[in-house]
Amino acid sequence: MRPDRIGGDSWWRQAVVYQVYPRSFADANGDGIGDLAGITSRTPYLASLGVDAVWLSPFYPSQLADGGYDVDDHRDVDPLLGSLDDFDELVTALHREDIKLFVDIVPNHSSTRSAWFREAMEAEPGSPARDRFIFRDGRGQSGALPPSDWPSHFGPSAWTRTRNADGTPGQWYLHLFAPEQPDYNWDNEDVREYFRGTLRFWADRGVDGFRIDVAHALVKDLSEPLRSKPVFVDFDNPPTGDDVLFDRNEVHDVYRDWRRIFDEYDPPRVAVAEAVVSAPRRVLYTRSDELHQAFNFDLLNSYWSRDEYHAAIESSLTHAREAGTSSTWVLSNHDNVRHATRYGLAEGVEPTTWLARGADPTLLDPDLGSRRARAATLLMLALPGSAYLYQGEELGLPEVADIPIDRLQDPIWVRSSGELKGRDGCRVPLPWTADGAAFGFGPGASHLPQPRWFADYAVDVEDDDPHSTLSMYRAAISLRGRLAVNEDLTFLPSEHGVLHFARTASWESVTNFNLTAVTLPPGTVMLSSEPLNGDLLPAGATAWIAPDESPAPI
Ligand code: NOJ
Ligand code: CA
Repeated sequence: MRPDRIGGDSWWRQAVVYQVYPRSFADANGDGIGDLAGITSRTPYLASLGVDAVWLSPFYPSQLADGGYDVDDHRDVDPLLGSLDDFDELVTALHREDIKLFVDIVPNHSSTRSAWFREAMEAEPGSPARDRFIFRDGRGQSGALPPSDWPSHFGPSAWTRTRNADGTPGQWYLHLFAPEQPDYNWDNEDVREYFRGTLRFWADRGVDGFRIDVAHALVKDLSEPLRSKPVFVDFDNPPTGDDVLFDRNEVHDVYRDWRRIFDEYDPPRVAVAEAVVSAPRRVLYTRSDELHQAFNFDLLNSYWSRDEYHAAIESSLTHAREAGTSSTWVLSNHDNVRHATRYGLAEGVEPTTWLARGADPTLLDPDLGSRRARAATLLMLALPGSAYLYQGEELGLPEVADIPIDRLQDPIWVRSSGELKGRDGCRVPLPWTADGAAFGFGPGASHLPQPRWFADYAVDVEDDDPHSTLSMYRAAISLRGRLAVNEDLTFLPSEHGVLHFARTASWESVTNFNLTAVTLPPGTVMLSSEPLNGDLLPAGATAWIAPDESPAPI
């Protein structure tokens, strides 16, 4: 058993949570798609990493219009990924290793294949079945124009017109994401009750926590006439809670309701919100009677810059402390270009634009990216709060930037008319072995093509190398488990381009963001992201230091 960090019911405050994207983790039956049995078979690997919890991205029945975030039935397992029995086995296997489990709850939208949406399509305008979603008549002559100018996140319009049974054009329905993902109407009591039941369904099966997808979007201002919302992302202007579509004050009633459910359980279930809002608004989701944490993408959105990191850390910690929660930290996830690639791009090159324009290799320095990614991770793992890791980052995996266009799966590719490449490059199935079918992902092929260079990053290669990224992650997670005995952090004076802070009397972290080496602060190096030479910290490196006068680590 690993030692309890900040233990008991507060385990989540400084957890290391490992995100599994189930279709791309491990394929037990060889159909090319990762499955729950595959994850169970890799429980020893997860235990060897030392993570506190696993977060599973959706594994529910889905037509895969959005990588599983289009959910047909929230209370079942996609037959391609297994069964509820497989799920129970996974919970048992993880708990046996003292690893907790988060599942993804997707409450903003459904799927056009869900029983409720099909019922709504059969029903009349104005019927109770349609009221569970957001159906409206169109504007203009014979309703040919969408009811409002609201854009879909995947572009272009957030409205799709239906057809009546006789083939004539009908009402429109709202989908903030793909057309296959109709938004629920959170003013409807059936919807609220369905999600209460869904949370209980998974909590009863032993799930420890929930990740709440687009938590800030559930409640909309649907008063007539519908207000204009031509710009999609403008979270901060004005941050009053009266935007048409996002971060409305009323959404917090939903989370107060859910908190009562979480607290019915022993131990209480916990939740982390994906609320893509500014730091002061973000912590509103984590008030003591709402959710526990909210994702903080400030590091993910920071360039390789000491000042950006410093500002992001300072503001995140201050806001979290004021709200009585702990911060979260993220460098990579299933929606973003992997950080080993982001940090290798030439200054000023925006990652998704680089991908979309053919991933020009002259703009990428893979070695630099890999060094900086390791340094960033070691810095992140020294911060108070919870670190959310994304499968494959522990191998230092770069983005797969050259997936053939006819193999792309992400709706962003089609819906942006090929202007954006989408997120498949970070969702390519993991390499477990340097040889063999699909690099050990499974006995068959893999649903997204793996490049030949995946062999260099295979788990069995890195397992045996004490200097590999995998070895660094294992060492860092284990050390952190012993050292993170409180949530304090004090910035220390440092040279230009260096970020140096103390966590406890026996634990400091120092990162060199410069292009040349700097002198290490005094003390004993416990761990570093690069091999060290004398008392120098190389460019793009982090070291954890026990100050000379410090008590020995426990
Ligand atoms: C956020 C998820 O992380 C992303 O993958 C998904 O496309 C959207 N929410 C819609 O569910
Ligand atoms: Ca499979």
